[in-house]
Amino acid sequence: MRPQGLPDFIRAVPKAELHLHIEGTLEPELMFRLAKRNKRKLRFKSAAEVRKAYAFAGLQSFLDIYYEGAAVLIEEEDFYDLAAAYFKRAAADNVRHAEIFFDPQAHTSRGVPFATVIGGIRRALVDAEATLGMTSRLILSFLRHLDEADAAATLDTALPFRDWITGVGLDSSELGHPPEKFRTVFARARALGLRCVAHAGEEGPPAYIWGALDALRVERIDHGNRCLEDAALVDRLVARRMPLTLCPLSNLKLKVVPDMAAHPLPGMLARGLLVTINSDDPAYFGGYINENFKAVAAGERLSANDVRQLAKNSFTASFLSAADQARWIAAIDRVAA
Ligand code: HPA
Ligand code: ZN
Repeated sequence: MRPQGLPDFIRAVPKAELHLHIEGTLEPELMFRLAKRNKRKLRFKSAAEVRKAYAFAGLQSFLDIYYEGAAVLIEEEDFYDLAAAYFKRAAADNVRHAEIFFDPQAHTSRGVPFATVIGGIRRALVDAEATLGMTSRLILSFLRHLDEADAAATLDTALPFRDWITGVGLDSSELGHPPEKFRTVFARARALGLRCVAHAGEEGPPAYIWGALDALRVERIDHGNRCLEDAALVDRLVARRMPLTLCPLSNLKLKVVPDMAAHPLPGMLARGLLVTINSDDPAYFGGYINENFKAVAAGERLSANDVRQLAKNSFTASFLSAADQARWIAAIDRVAA
């Protein structure tokens, strides 16, 4: 099939998704199903009522409801069902590779064992590779509103599963929790051969992006929108080809940008930043990866060439081997031709 317009090209082009919280893919219908299965009461009466509650003032008001939703995840099978649903949905968008965050502390703090969390996700990942031909990696994300000792204990708990984990990340409430707070645990993770990424510059200032680069020595910045307030920082990010994993619909829903027509992504791409498009928490923000591409592209703000570049960036910025990256980039060029 020959792609027609830009939406068709967006769908047809192979993509990697690099900024996706598995807990953020919990659709209200599954939330109800798991609540029922686990005999837990929700304060909402219907999926429609849940969706109505998804009007966020900013990051914290989203996180409050995100952790509340995650509390229906209890058994290994729940984590399996959650991740399996994401893989199926992402494959429909032609996501061929995903690097997925999970927030173990959101579960271990409720008494759910780490092994239950990662066991369910890992089983879905293996199945998705076999049935959908889609590859994935897992990134253990520390909750930055908790202290570094809690993150260090979580890393200890993860050690028996070291081979299932590709990297560590840093998420949750950004303001007041600079990257430097996690310098030691990131150094330990790096010594274990884990790749390092961190959310920075979503709500936090450019100094937090500098902190992620210098104190945590990250290989990608998650979000990073606020780099634009610091010209020297932009120069550094461009010079180092530091990937930024942008999440346009998330930015709109969390009021990081006032409206999509003002989203800085097209300008960042033109400036030479290695930007990628991702869905962050698609069940909460109203769209999976292709919807994010289409939202930015509306009003002819992205050309087909831009979409091709963004798809290539997603593989270049991934933790796939150089050979695998090159294969996907060649596949993108074939679809584009
Ligand atoms: N930012 C910070 N923490 C998060 C997010 C986000 O967008 N999604 C889930 N945890
Ligand atoms: Zn995120």
